[in-house]
Amino acid sequence: MTPGEHAPGVRLVFLGPPGAGKGTQAQVLAGTSGAVQIATGDILRRHRRDRTPLGLEAQSFMDAGKLVPDDLIVRMMEAEIAGHDSFILDGFPRTVPQAEALDALLARLGLPLVAVVLFETDRAELMARLTGRLTNERTGRTYHVVTDPPKVAGVDDDDGGPLVTRPDDRPETVAKRLVEYDSLTAALVPYYGAHGLLVRIDAMQAVPTVTAAIEGAVRRREAHVS
Ligand code: AP5
Repeated sequence: MTPGEHAPGVRLVFLGPPGAGKGTQAQVLAGTSGAVQIATGDILRRHRRDRTPLGLEAQSFMDAGKLVPDDLIVRMMEAEIAGHDSFILDGFPRTVPQAEALDALLARLGLPLVAVVLFETDRAELMARLTGRLTNERTGRTYHVVTDPPKVAGVDDDDGGPLVTRPDDRPETVAKRLVEYDSLTAALVPYYGAHGLLVRIDAMQAVPTVTAAIEGAVRRREAHVS
């Protein structure tokens, strides 16, 4: 590739508060676009389950609703992104230092982002979504007890695996995660706005409507950058 050229591919960051629907949409769009979903929360929970040094170090932060320190996350994500040219980053970056590290990595790899999708939501809705969420810990697929229940209670429709309530979805921990979002992650909105990458999506709509809105916005961005 000559300077200024870059590899084709869908490269997105999904940004938004806990419960905004980032994981739900990343699973759908990874399926339709061929991009790989790289979900920091899922990767960290896998490390925790496997009792790796990273998982053990991250556990206390996650259980307290706090962000895991930047140096751990950046090292982990550099390894996860390596080798992919199409990806949806679901939950990364979440701080300005993480965003700067991502910029440096993608510049080195010649893989610029296509868009940063901001999931805009109403705060009351987030609490209802998270406290009713059911998760398949093995695959990361989620349901909701009221709005999207599985066919058989407690069992994933896809693989028959158990569905659980994440420990950090208790109301008191959700409240702490929202404080972390406001104090550390919300700064990425002006950051990516200044980079001309931000696309705002109304994430209060039904899941298929949000999917269509993201697909339309990404197509417009791709046409703009190609
Ligand atoms: P993580 O697992 O990434 O949690 P999160 O960002 O808080 O996001 P969630 O998974 O809670 O929400 P979501 O937006 O994906 O919503 P979902 O689609 O599931 O992170 C967990 C922890 O790991 C963090 O607290 C931190 O400790 C650590 N961590 C992770 N990344 C880090 C980083 N970069 N730096 C430092 N620490 C990090 O949807 C939620 C519910 O709503 C579901 O039940 C779903 O069915 C339902 N739903 C979804 N869309 C809709 C819709 N349109 N209408 C109605 N219901 C909907």
